[in-house]
Order: sequence, then structure tokens, then C-alpha cells
Amino acid sequence: MLVMSSPATNEHAIFKAGPATTARAVALLRAGQPIGLPTETVYGLAADACDDRAVARIFEMKGRPTFNPLIIHVADMALAETLVEMTPLARRIAARFWPGPLTLVLPRRPNCPVSLLASAGLDTLAIRMPAHPAAREILRAFGPLAAPSANRSGHVSPTTARHVVEELPVALVVDGGPCQVGLESTIIGFEGETPVLLRPGGIAAEDIEDLAGVALARRAHGDAITAPGQLGSHYAPVAGVRLDAADIREGEALLAFGRPLPGAAITLNLSPSGDTAEAAANLFAMLRALDHPGITAIAVMPIPETGLGLAVNDRLRRAAAPREGRP
Ligand code: TXA
Ligand code: MG
Repeated sequence: MLVMSSPATNEHAIFKAGPATTARAVALLRAGQPIGLPTETVYGLAADACDDRAVARIFEMKGRPTFNPLIIHVADMALAETLVEMTPLARRIAARFWPGPLTLVLPRRPNCPVSLLASAGLDTLAIRMPAHPAAREILRAFGPLAAPSANRSGHVSPTTARHVVEELPVALVVDGGPCQVGLESTIIGFEGETPVLLRPGGIAAEDIEDLAGVALARRAHGDAITAPGQLGSHYAPVAGVRLDAADIREGEALLAFGRPLPGAAITLNLSPSGDTAEAAANLFAMLRALDHPGITAIAVMPIPETGLGLAVNDRLRRAAAPREGRP
């Protein structure tokens, strides 16, 4: 794991996961405050999913466009069943991959108490049961939590508690260690009987297809139908990002995969053995570590589109997308 060298402004907000921290977290959540929550994918900025004002604070803290809906996190299947209309296929997928890095988008149930602001007024809800023990303990003690990744909108997602306090003024971050998966959950929606891949993520699309027995319909992450206003540029470090690098140019750092290209002054390797799951776990922390003033761009070696490589490449394309104010 990488150790960050930049100073954190409110390190005192970091509390090691455990019963005392759970109690503190629950008290803040009851008071309508967002907290930093560890999950196996990335750290979330979590607040009471049923409280409009608490949810509004999430959007405000992240600087997030309010039309971009949030994922609702639950401790168990019984609670999920009270919030959304499950289908037999959704239940089968959930039974296999929950708890874990998978989100299902399903119709809200008629009396679903989740804030409409959290789902941006859509009649569907994105729901997930995380696997991280600290998240599960807090969810069991509190109830459903709305939680986007705990970064400022458009920035790289956080995979340590320290990343969270470096960019958000939260009162408490539960420190559950570095995230094991390292990038966000796979999001699956449904069009009739057909499962649709809305965002590649921590569970390989192939594994879901094997279980479902059908191909996932593919939708570009951020298609207007379900996530209006999703920007192309996301996960953006300050330095530029150059994909599919076959050489190293002046001022570039190298983000390698497999055997590194020669000639870079600074190299970090997503996975020396060419393992896409290892690359996923290292991606965000390495993008952060290479993002400093001496570097003009991060050159990234090609990564295969198989397994978690699909999600890694999706995040890298967003990191490389043109942004306002820069070429
Ligand atoms: O791994 C994860 O999913 C992390 C951790 C914290 O659980 N959360 C996360 O949340 O990645 P966020 O807010 O960064 O991304 C949520 C994505 C957005 O792309 C949003 O558009 C989509 O989920 N989404 C939420 N509700 C939706 C809905 N009803 N229909 C379609 N997409 C939805
Ligand atoms: Mg995010």
C-alpha cells in the first residue's frame, strides 16, 4: 500500500473502527451529519438515507450536482426487500454477490422511506449491501445509508481514511484500513428481464453473466437514461493522463501494468504480474501518489478489457477525459 506524504488538515477526525467508533458514528448520523465510511470498494460519505437534509449535506459537501443519484447501503436482504421491488433474477444475483461490490437498480417500493433527493427524483433506487465489517456494523446499528464515494465531485475516489480527510471537512471518518477492492461497485439495472451493465466495477461482468445465464446489455457508464448529467471527466488528477502509452515523454510519470516501459523518472506499477484485480486495488491510490506538481502527465500502459480491467479502463478513460480549462 502507498503511504501519502501530504499533510492532512483534520487528521483528528480519523477514528479506528470498533465499538466506540460505531457508537460515535451512529450518534452523528442520528444528528443528520455525514460521516466517512469504509467499504470494500472505496470510502463512502454516508448519511441517513431517509433524511432529506442529511442527504442534502452530502451533495453540498461533495460539490455534487443534485441530479446525480446516490447508492443506498443496507445491512441485510430483509431491509432491501422493504425498499425496492426485487425480481427473481435480482434476488439470484444478490444471493450470490451480496454482501459485496455490487449495486442493483430496481423500482422503489410504494412506501419506500428513502429521501427522493437521494435518488434524484427517479422512480428507481440503486441499492447495495457492502461487505466491509465496519460498514456492516454501522448499517446494522443505524439503518439505510446513502453514500457516494467520499471525494469532492470529479476527483479521484478515496481508498484510505486519510484520503477522505484530505478533501472533505467531515467530523468523523471510520478507519477500516485500505479498501480491498479499490474501485466502486458494479452497477446492474434491468430492462424488463434483461440485466444491464450500468457501470463496470468490483465484480467482473463475466461473473454476473455466468450466474444470470444471459449476456449483460452494455450501456456507456453515465448514459442519459439513468444517470442524467454524469460528466465525462471524473476521477481526475491535476496532472494530465495519457492512455495506452507505448513510450515515455518529457515530464511524464509512468503508471505501469506488467513489465514497465523503460525511461520514466518515476514509475508505479498497478500489477507487475498483470493481474487486473490487483490493478483495481492500486488504481486510485497510485493516481493520487503520481499527481504532484513536478509531473506534467501520467502515462498509463495498456490494460486488458477482461475481468476487472473493464472497470479499471472505464475509470482511466474518465481520468483522461478533457476537462474545463485544460486541453
Ligand atoms: O462502491 C460504490 O458503489 C461506492 C461505495 C461508497 O459504496 N459508492 C459509489 O457511489 O460509487 P457514487 O455516488 O460515487 O456513484 C453512484 C452511481 C452514480 O453513477 C449514479 O449515477 C448511479 O450510481 N446511480 C445511483 N442511483 C441510480 C439510479 N436510480 N439509477 C441509475 N443509476 C443510479
Ligand atoms: Mg464517485
